[in-house]
Amino acid sequence: MRNFVLVKKKINKFDIKSLSLPGDKSLSIRFIIFASLANGKSKAYNLLNSEDVKSTIKCFSKLGIKIIFKKNFCEVYGKGLFGLNYKPNIILDSGNSGTCARLIMASVVDTSKKITFIGDKSLSKRDMSRITIPLKKFGVNFKNKTNTLPLSVLPTTKLKPIKYFENLGSAQCKSAVIIAALKTKGKTFLKCKPSRNHTELILKNVLKAPIKLKKKKNFDLIEIQGNKEFKSFKYDIPSDISSAAFFIVLTLLGKNSSMIIKNINTNPTRTGIIHILNLMGAKIKLLNTKIYNGEKISDIFVKSSKTLKGINLNPKHNSSAIDEFLLIFLTASLCKGISTFKNLSELNKKESKRLNLGIKILRLMGIKVKKINKDGIKIWGNPNLEINHNIKINDYLKDHRIFMMSVIASLTVGGKWKIFDPDSIKTSFPSFLKLLKKCGAKIN
Ligand code: S3P
Repeated sequence: MRNFVLVKKKINKFDIKSLSLPGDKSLSIRFIIFASLANGKSKAYNLLNSEDVKSTIKCFSKLGIKIIFKKNFCEVYGKGLFGLNYKPNIILDSGNSGTCARLIMASVVDTSKKITFIGDKSLSKRDMSRITIPLKKFGVNFKNKTNTLPLSVLPTTKLKPIKYFENLGSAQCKSAVIIAALKTKGKTFLKCKPSRNHTELILKNVLKAPIKLKKKKNFDLIEIQGNKEFKSFKYDIPSDISSAAFFIVLTLLGKNSSMIIKNINTNPTRTGIIHILNLMGAKIKLLNTKIYNGEKISDIFVKSSKTLKGINLNPKHNSSAIDEFLLIFLTASLCKGISTFKNLSELNKKESKRLNLGIKILRLMGIKVKKINKDGIKIWGNPNLEINHNIKINDYLKDHRIFMMSVIASLTVGGKWKIFDPDSIKTSFPSFLKLLKKCGAKIN
């Protein structure tokens, strides 16, 4: 039997005023990778305990790294930049995680044994050429000619640094180039469209690696010297803004509620959701902000708003909100006026085709939506929307964010919702439903 949840009632005023959330997924995966490539025992607190992170741990365990993951900490016994030690012909399964597959592929470019990468149904549909193209420039050989998993990396002896222009605004692509560069003798130069910069910040602030970062108007310049070992480290992982986003939007679209969400990674390359919602008239505030290892960390204060308005979003904000667009579409559907969002082709390359599915879900809700210019969307907001009909949301490639956005929509607009695949939340936010219930949501 396929699992589903039933939501038949909107959420009223919240039962709690403050919330603590699990660790940031991007930082948790990066911690496992860099701790495995460092020398000695590294330790993280508040590591996200989710399937994507566990896939990363399993892959590095197969690559010969001892990792102990207990309830509140994780220890990784790194063996240095070139110390991975494993059997020939191993198969690394990244499950649902693009970050895990793409960043680990870059971590083994110097392999002397064939390694095969596989993933689940969703990951096996995703484009890997954005990684294999730059990795081939470094000198990596792949067994397959396809652009999707499964892919095998073949033994490589001659790696060289490269010059590369990353023009998708993809942090996974940028990070893969940076990690591969660490394994080469010489300097790699990278020009890239802005995207989340956790990889650079860890290398610069935590590992003290020889990396130079320059910000230009429309792109970033990165210069990295390879072949330099780094020491083990400790990392206190802040909580994930992509998980906070669901509670931010639920509070914002609710009635007479407010919430403080504690200790969130508010790195400006990730806070697009806050910026965009504030442009739409929200008054979300960052409190108690501090800098930790180059990352900005804040408590987020949000309260319900009746005066949200539509937006014509400048696509320069797309990358900093890339995982939150389903929630932004939902907000645009429930505020006054028309909203337009453009240049969102990357959204259809995520765990599912999120641009197309976002349109589909809004239409099921009775919202007028139009796809514009192949990769944009126009939404006619309806602040008075009340749903009385039944809505069924299928398990589209088991996409966690489709499931979670649908739950937030159901708690906001009413109607009877049957939403498939609650298990999908295990990839990024396993406590999502439990925390919603703590807030007062009635979910069966
Ligand atoms: C991530 C980068 C983003 C994001 C993903 C996590 C990362 O993808 O969608 O959930 O941790 O590097 P891009 O590669 O498109 O930036």
